[in-house]
Formats: sequence, structure tokens, C-alpha cells
Amino acid sequence: MTKQTDLINRLARNELVDMVPYQSARRLFASGDDSAANNIWLNANEAPGAGDYSVEASCINRYPDFQPDSLINGYSNYSALPPSQILATRGADEGIELVIKAFCRAYQDNILICPPTYGMYGISAQAQGVGIIEVPLVNNLLNVEEIAKQKGQAKVLFLCSPGNPTGNLLPKAQLLQVLEIFKNDAIVVVDEAYIEFSPTDSMQGIIDEYDNLVVLRTLSKAFALAGLRCGFTLANETIITMLSKVIAPYPISAPVAEIASQALNDAGVARMQSQVAITNTLRNEFSDWLEKQAWCVRVFDSSANFILFECTEKDEIFNALKEQNILIRDQSKQQQLANCLRISIGSEKELTLVKTLLEQAFNQPLTQRAPAQTNV
Ligand SMILES: Cc1ncc(COP(=O)(O)O)c(C=O)c1O
Repeated sequence: MTKQTDLINRLARNELVDMVPYQSARRLFASGDDSAANNIWLNANEAPGAGDYSVEASCINRYPDFQPDSLINGYSNYSALPPSQILATRGADEGIELVIKAFCRAYQDNILICPPTYGMYGISAQAQGVGIIEVPLVNNLLNVEEIAKQKGQAKVLFLCSPGNPTGNLLPKAQLLQVLEIFKNDAIVVVDEAYIEFSPTDSMQGIIDEYDNLVVLRTLSKAFALAGLRCGFTLANETIITMLSKVIAPYPISAPVAEIASQALNDAGVARMQSQVAITNTLRNEFSDWLEKQAWCVRVFDSSANFILFECTEKDEIFNALKEQNILIRDQSKQQQLANCLRISIGSEKELTLVKTLLEQAFNQPLTQRAPAQTNV
């Protein structure tokens, strides 16, 4: 260990020294270098194709408003919630961080998560010295009985619907049960990053009924703006005021607010909705195709823009695609997901290419195939 490492490790919070950061899709495969230019990105649940936006940003020498009116009004129109129940953040990821920051005391409180689930809940808690209680999903549904036993222990619950990486919606009845059980004891966060793919199942309509409900949203998925880093936390005014105390002073940069406001105007929302319809059709077709493949053991139901599937030759399939610069996501390290891969629903052309490649490589008996590389 060098003198520098020794010093920094000694000064840093102890639990960060060995902490593994979130392995985001772009940390695993960066998009910046030349070799990545031709990649087909099906590993981060982004939307294919970007919209056409113009940025004036004429007042870039000035700080932006704390919560720019055009942006909050845009989301208010889109969501039919009053501006006082909306907080714009640097992606839904910042919403996760803020809820933990506002409600959990370091080294005392816990969040509750239901794995397999989105990794940032746990990472954000760890980074803030907050404990993590795990109550695993059972058949991709909540184990409400076990969750209820954590009353008094968990301060914030993170429930993901549609779930990442599982893809299914959590039944509204289960979410209501949990909200009811914890109504005087804990904040219940319903992460709706993918809700545009199944909009009628949102929980935002009951924000006024449950004082402990927080809904997370993002422009990264259906709105095709992952590069923008813009999300929204929806909750009653008291929660929004509390979160506003721990957010950065100027959380949304002026160009981000400008582009996001354009995406939320009537034309932007209509464009998003028509792309969602295309994606949902492609997802259902791809799911039917997967079901028919000899190597596919199980296809998970999806109400989002990705599909999780279990297969017999997980590494071979992952690597066969990677060799052709097609990147999907290996989920096999998550509990309950041995041999599972997740593929984002890209464009029709991208998915046709995936199907053709896999049909060529894998639809002949094992003995006749060229040896595949192992996953490193
Ligand atoms: C379930 C879920 N929540 C939140 C996020 C973070 O979204 P954002 O890009 O808005 O930070 C993601 C991103 O993949 C996600 O899958």
C-alpha cells in the first residue's frame, strides 16, 4: 500500500474503503472511445433514437432557478399533479439519495429493499451509512407478511414497479397493503422509472391519500433522455419541502431545464407515447420469440422496455452478442437470477439483428457449434 492510499483509507469513512460502487452499464462499457462507436446498446434500458432539441442557454452566466417554472409546470401538466408536489432532480437516482438523506440517520436507521431489485437503493444507503434490510421478492411479488415484520426497523421502503431487472408490475393491492401497514412509521417509495410503458398502473393518483408515499419518475427511459439526467420526485408538499432542504442549491442546469421542458410539451409527450406503443409491441414480439428458443428456460413477464430471461448457455449468448458489439446486461449475480440476462428493447433493426445472430449461432445442436468464449 502506498503512503497516499494508506492516508486516504485511514481518513475515509471505514465502510467506504472496501465498498464496490454501482456497476452502471456505462461503467462496465464506456461509450466514449472510438471502438464503442458502432456498439448496439441494449444494456441500460434507454430508448432508441433521440429527439430533436434546441438549446439557447443565453443566460448561462447566471445561476438557474432552484426549480425552473417551465420545467415544473411542464411536469405538472404531464402528470396532472400540482407543482407543489413535484421536485425536479438529477435523474431518479438523485431522488433515491435525497429520500435516504432526509429520512435516515447514519448508523441508526435502515432502508428496506426487495431483491432482486435496482442496485442504487442499496448503494445509496451504503454511501450514507444507512443499514439495509432485505425482504426478497417471492415469484417476483412482494412478501408482504415478511415486510410487515420490519415495522419499526425500516424507515424507508423502496418498491420498484415495474421492477428492474424483473420487469413486472407489483400488484396495486400489495402496494396499498404496504402503504397502509407503514402509514405511521415509514416512507414508502414506489420507483416508477418505467411506468410510461404501463401508465394506468401508476400510484401517483393516491399521493393525497397516503402521507408516506413517494413516487420516483425519470426522463431517462420512455422520454429517451438518459443523457440529460433529469428525474422527478412526486409526493405531498411536506415531503417535497423536506427533500428541498437536502438537495443541492442549483440542482437542474439551465440547458437541462430547457431540453426537459421541450420534451414535456404536448408534442414531446405525444412523441414519447407513440414510441412507447412501438416499444411495447416489439417487446411482446421479442418475448414470444424468446419463448420459442431451445436455450431459453424462462421469459419473465415485462411491463417495461426490457426483458429478463433465463437461459441454458448464459455466457455463450452474452459473449456471442458482445463479439458483434451488441451489449446486453448479465443479471446472474443477483439473488434468484442465476443464468439470467436482461435485454433492453431497442429499435426493430437492432432486435432483428439480435434474433438473426442468435438463431445462426445457437439453433443447432451443441456438438456442431463453434466454441464460444467464456465470459471474463
Ligand atoms: C428502477 C430504476 N430507478 C431509477 C433509475 C435511475 O434513473 P435516472 O436515469 O433517472 O437516474 C433507473 C435506471 O436505470 C432504474 O432502472
